[in-house]
Amino acid sequence: MSVAEIMQSMDYGPAPEGTTEAEAWLERHGRRFGCFIDGTFETPGSTLDSHNPARDEKLAEITQATQSDVERAVAAARKAQPAWARLGSGRARPLYALARVVQRQARLLAVLETLDNGKPIRESRDIDVPLVARHFYHHAGWAQLLEDEFPGQQALGVAGQIIPWNFPLLMLAWKLAPALATGNTVVLKPAEYTSLTALLFAELAHRAGLPAGVVNVVTGDGAVGELIVEHPGIDKIAFTGSTEVGRRIREKTAGTGKRLTLELGGKSPFIVFDDADLDSAVEGLVDAIWFNQGQVCCAGSRLLVQESVAEPLIAKLKARMAKLQLGDPLDKGTDIGAIVAPGQLARIQGLVQTGIDEGGEMWQPDLPCPAGNFYPPTLFTGVQPAATIAQEEIFGPVLVATSFRTPGEAIELANNTRYGLAASVWSESINLALEVAPKLVCGVVWVNATNLFDAACGFGGRRESGFGREGGHEGLGEYLRPAWDLGRKAYVETKIASERPLLEPDLGLDRTPKLYIGGAQKRPDSGYSQAVLDPKGVLLGEVGAGSRKDVREAVEAARKAAAWSRATPHNRAQVIYYLAENLEARRAEFGARIAAQTGVSRRAARAEVRASVERLFAAAAWADKFEGAVHQPPLRGVTLALNEPHGVVAVVCPDEAPLLATVSLLGPALAAGNRVILVPSEPHPLSATDLYQVLDTSDVPGGAVNIVTGRRQDLAPVLAAHAEIDALWYFGPAELGAELERLAAGNLKPTWIETRRRDWRQRHQGEGREFMGRASQVKNIWIPYGE
Ligand code: NAI
Repeated sequence: MSVAEIMQSMDYGPAPEGTTEAEAWLERHGRRFGCFIDGTFETPGSTLDSHNPARDEKLAEITQATQSDVERAVAAARKAQPAWARLGSGRARPLYALARVVQRQARLLAVLETLDNGKPIRESRDIDVPLVARHFYHHAGWAQLLEDEFPGQQALGVAGQIIPWNFPLLMLAWKLAPALATGNTVVLKPAEYTSLTALLFAELAHRAGLPAGVVNVVTGDGAVGELIVEHPGIDKIAFTGSTEVGRRIREKTAGTGKRLTLELGGKSPFIVFDDADLDSAVEGLVDAIWFNQGQVCCAGSRLLVQESVAEPLIAKLKARMAKLQLGDPLDKGTDIGAIVAPGQLARIQGLVQTGIDEGGEMWQPDLPCPAGNFYPPTLFTGVQPAATIAQEEIFGPVLVATSFRTPGEAIELANNTRYGLAASVWSESINLALEVAPKLVCGVVWVNATNLFDAACGFGGRRESGFGREGGHEGLGEYLRPAWDLGRKAYVETKIASERPLLEPDLGLDRTPKLYIGGAQKRPDSGYSQAVLDPKGVLLGEVGAGSRKDVREAVEAARKAAAWSRATPHNRAQVIYYLAENLEARRAEFGARIAAQTGVSRRAARAEVRASVERLFAAAAWADKFEGAVHQPPLRGVTLALNEPHGVVAVVCPDEAPLLATVSLLGPALAAGNRVILVPSEPHPLSATDLYQVLDTSDVPGGAVNIVTGRRQDLAPVLAAHAEIDALWYFGPAELGAELERLAAGNLKPTWIETRRRDWRQRHQGEGREFMGRASQVKNIWIPYGE
């Protein structure tokens, strides 16, 4: 045999990573683990088995935590919190120590992760663990800078964090690092399949000097997760996992005042244009869908390929798939390891069968596939966009391919999903890629790349992929609140309903302001109007009694007004300045109206108008200054963090400060590029209806602002439940707030529900970054460069 022949026929020999240290650690604990509370392992209670899915061997037993375990963990976290928060920038040192400990113990952590989860050692060693260390380093720096960079902000308190099994240690880092950097303490629940690295981490962290009670780990299944979600001593829930459980958590936390971030499922498009480098795109696909066996929330699981290159791309892809190594996750040559558990394998098999039954063409390379929890790389072609496997998250190594003709069609197909987590765009034309990226409804876009992560770049989704961001500047905000937040008074229901009967349709109704929809006044569908009384009960006027049908029309008008969201910030600023000027020109009339409705002195009413004009000027000023960032993650490339509008935002205004509160909310919502459906103060709606003419004369395009007057109790729930509304803001009594938050779980719209009063006159409570942040969400666009 010649050397050339040997080079051709040579196969990889096995190269398994040793497990001695990991096995020794398990043995030291007798392969039985209690929860880790207040700095120590507790005695194990009743236990669940934790398996090595690659060998179907039991690795250890973990405790199914009880109510009293969760109680103790929360109590420990609560006790430790004030001192931890008081450390201030002193928290940086223990966080650096955590980063170092992860680096020092990288091999042990990687091996244990692979044993417990089944992911290839190459991934746990080269991706997961280094990213964990990077996360703690980065956030140690934030702890150092927090007081300067987030002035006037403080920790929420105790965070309950629930994580999944696909990246056990990395998700732990994503959760712990920002919570700890901002002075919160934590009760963390790892997934029942993969709790071991969290327990090891807790032990290592405390050995490295983390104070007792700062991080507590309770183990067990979803029931333990529920105990955390329901615990009144917890101030925030951060959850990563399935959309189904995320929605349940939204419903359970509704009205509790707990802050919430949800990082849920996805069905992310991987778009290949005809000018893409196809070989790179194929390598990208390997990372997109066969990384971690496709058990990745942001996996590029939907290949959308331009028709003219579909054939060569699929041919190259099949050739590449036939070279993937499937097998022992501990082997350094393995590309695809084990599926996490038999249940997950069955789910993948079931969905693949559905794909075949629905007419998709399934292809798998002829690879040796070990028995047990393994599944070969799989490609479906000829799949209709509406097919189950094109819509459902499979969470396995299964790629579903569809072709498209034009960029417009690609965007439409990409957005044709209930999810909105990530997307990958492949084109050698920077113009095309950056034209497409902002049009994709998702939180992360990778240009000519995929599955890149970094602590400095926020991560999170839209729509049913959840809300909130983890990582980066925006991720820290999820764990902070303004110091003035404490000690606010609750909103109470203004007693008006019984005193203000609906008025019969009046043919001479023209005095009555109608609703404002799509830039025109419109009679309410009910034909009824509602009386507006002054504080003494004297009739001041009437407003339209809006109903469900009016809300639907307003939503339609707002959806059509998408041009406002695409307008340049400069243009939006100009319109809002104009609005402010036109309001100022009518200040006497607006002042008189406020005084008549609310009974405040004329002086106070004039002050409210002045403040409202200022507020609009401030919103206009912010329109082109609430800018994103350019991150420089550790790769050759940049990440653009763009602030994007939600889309259509429903704003249910508070009863008080009828003009000032309204414009304080409307201004930033518009400035950020949202279209708005506004329900004005119920007792004092005339300040909002007087705005119709101001809006008309200020070049605000029709549909950008829609105002529906009527009973808050009737209108707000319709808005909260509406699937075409992208975010909901509500300022009012707690009972209705809780109902709205529950209803908003339907399409998982982000909510800003405030049931305690602000002083709208105070600038720090009524304008600024907080408002612009609420009005937008960050999209991170990754642009690697170089040949
Ligand atoms: P899951 O959502 O049930 O589990 C995630 C975490 O939530 C685990 O720690 C679990 O114990 C906990 N949990 C379960 N029920 C809970 C409840 N009612 N309240 C509080 N916590 C609860 O995900 P599962 O069942 O492991 O996987 C099912 C599917 O979910 C997967 O096939 C995949 O499609 C999707 N998934 C998505 C993930 C993502 O990162 N987006 C991660 C894991 C699963």
